[in-house]
Amino acid sequence: MTVLTIKTIIIEDVILEHNDNSDFLQSCEVGFEGIKMTMKQKGNKPDRVILDGSLKGKARPGRMLAVMGPSGSGKSSLIHALAGRIKQNKKLTLSGQRYVNNQKLSGDSMLPAAFIEQDVNFFPHMTVKETLDFRVELKLGSQISKSDRDDVVSNLMDLLGLTKSSNTIVGSTKVRGLSGGERKRLSIACELISSPPVIILDEPTSGLDSYQAAQVTEFLRKLADSGKTIISVIHQPSQQVFSMYDDLLLISEGHLMYYGEVNKVRSYLQNIGYSCSKDTGTAEFILDCISRTNGGADEQKKSTDRINHIAAEASRQLKVSFPTGALVSADSAREHKLKLVQSRMGPAAGILRQFKLLLTRALKEVSRGKGAIIIKVVQQVTLGGIYGGIYKVGNNQASIMDRFGLLSLVAIGSMNMAVASTIRSFTKEKAIVSSEMAGDMYRTLPYFLAKAISEIPLVGVYNVIFSSILYPLAGLQKRKDKFKNFIGLTSLHTLVCESAGLIVGAISPNSDVALSLFPALVVLNIIFDGRNISAENTPKLLRWIPKVSLIRWGFEGLAVNEFNGLEFNTSGPRRGPLVKTGKEALDRFGMADRKLGEVVAAQRNILGACWFLSYLGLSLTGQKYETMVTP
Ligand SMILES: Nc1ncnc2c1ncn2[C@@H]1O[C@H](COP(=O)(O)OP(=O)(O)OP(=O)(O)O)[C@@H](O)[C@H]1O
Ligand SMILES: [Mg+2]
Repeated sequence: MTVLTIKTIIIEDVILEHNDNSDFLQSCEVGFEGIKMTMKQKGNKPDRVILDGSLKGKARPGRMLAVMGPSGSGKSSLIHALAGRIKQNKKLTLSGQRYVNNQKLSGDSMLPAAFIEQDVNFFPHMTVKETLDFRVELKLGSQISKSDRDDVVSNLMDLLGLTKSSNTIVGSTKVRGLSGGERKRLSIACELISSPPVIILDEPTSGLDSYQAAQVTEFLRKLADSGKTIISVIHQPSQQVFSMYDDLLLISEGHLMYYGEVNKVRSYLQNIGYSCSKDTGTAEFILDCISRTNGGADEQKKSTDRINHIAAEASRQLKVSFPTGALVSADSAREHKLKLVQSRMGPAAGILRQFKLLLTRALKEVSRGKGAIIIKVVQQVTLGGIYGGIYKVGNNQASIMDRFGLLSLVAIGSMNMAVASTIRSFTKEKAIVSSEMAGDMYRTLPYFLAKAISEIPLVGVYNVIFSSILYPLAGLQKRKDKFKNFIGLTSLHTLVCESAGLIVGAISPNSDVALSLFPALVVLNIIFDGRNISAENTPKLLRWIPKVSLIRWGFEGLAVNEFNGLEFNTSGPRRGPLVKTGKEALDRFGMADRKLGEVVAAQRNILGACWFLSYLGLSLTGQKYETMVTP
């Protein structure tokens, strides 16, 4: 027995001991036939056919099925359809039948499969070990002891050759971290945690050099040898990689071109009239056969005829047998479906553990993002310096308008920064989080609470930096309690604005949509900040907006804090009547009776409402998948 099989078995033992579905899920033959996917087109154009219903085949335990075809031929669509992971889309229709161990699978079931997407995004500042620890604890929860969990993680790292990079951060396109091959292997390791019997991969070797590609494929080969069913899309494989596969499914333009053993494809094509010279690699040859040629009209016609001929031969010659409807009793189908649904009943870890793990990860991610921290600190220092360098308020009559101007700019500036940066970072994070939640690792609520809480410490730090520069430089009221309030109020204002950014991020399908909503949010908040339009002239339908205007409350808090207790001398130019006290100045803006407590309460309510709405937005926009209709 190889070291790898032993290790796989160790992992499986630990996991399966606690898994009620172990016997059923241990080995899986996946069958499929008639998979058809079409897309509605604009106007009266006929539907576009992505998969034409001719696709059929089986992926068996202990074997590797390669899915190949030219770019755009429908390979990714097919494996997503098999796994039950075609993202819901009103324009799409999906039909076909899948089988697991010769039993029909209901159209809304997911396969008991690991699905490794072509590009997997991780939280970039977590190390390899932390990423795996996090997932192992969430997926296996308290079912197994801490030492068993550690064993699972170290075995997985060993299996995938990640041990020496265990303390390297994962990285992203912007943050230096793992190499492409290591990231690919990490994404495989993450999916192997729940030890699913089927492993589906979308181009696991694309973008890797030939050595790394061979290593990843060898690893998959070993998993297959240990009894797993492997289905993998591959692109231009080397002969070495190609020959490690057992079976092959060829697709061109959504049609089935070949299904059968890898080592029979050359002779099959030869038999139907396409022979291959000895010195051409098989993979290269078959792709040439089923690809459309972009040449002159003659060339194009020739390739179209060739593709049509190969497709016609495939429908005529290639037979795959499936149980007929009568063989599957309603009961067994029902029971079967139940088992599969049960295997995805939700996170293994309790809600408190989910929260703890998510909060730890969020705090690590926030505190390790050095680049982002430096940018924010520089922003605070420069803004504090600019405001403080320009404004020297003093106590004469002119200082009244200057103070109002400065405080209103502070409120507007913080809002802009907080909303923009939240929208930018949250939309990126949401893509990762949605797929983790779709994989039943945790629920929205613990994620959301952890996310909201993890922001608080750094917001405090940034506002201390900003206030410590601006406050003394601009010469705002020299009282310790006022300074502390200033820090507290700017921090609260930032948090409220970030929460508004979260709503935008949560309801938007991507960052482009979110960023397009940003100007409207800012402009509405500025218009209704309490000074730019009179209450009487505000359209009736919009009269609620000033009550929740972020800038209005941010500004009023700062103004009430600053003006109360101030006395002005009578010198200096002035606009309007003479004002002697801060209270009189506040009166000019209709804030004479405003209490700090009221402002804080209003902001707290807005914060609560924004968090609730973002939570709702996130829950409702969670990833949903198409149901496969039986033809
Ligand atoms: N949700 C979708 N919306 C619009 N078009 C889609 C969708 N899904 C698939 N398609 C279209 O279906 C065709 C097949 O796409 P698919 O991603 O399956 O190809 P592929 O064989 O994986 O290609 P590649 O090798 O380039 O990854 C493409 O032309 C693609 O534009
Ligand atoms: Mg693809």
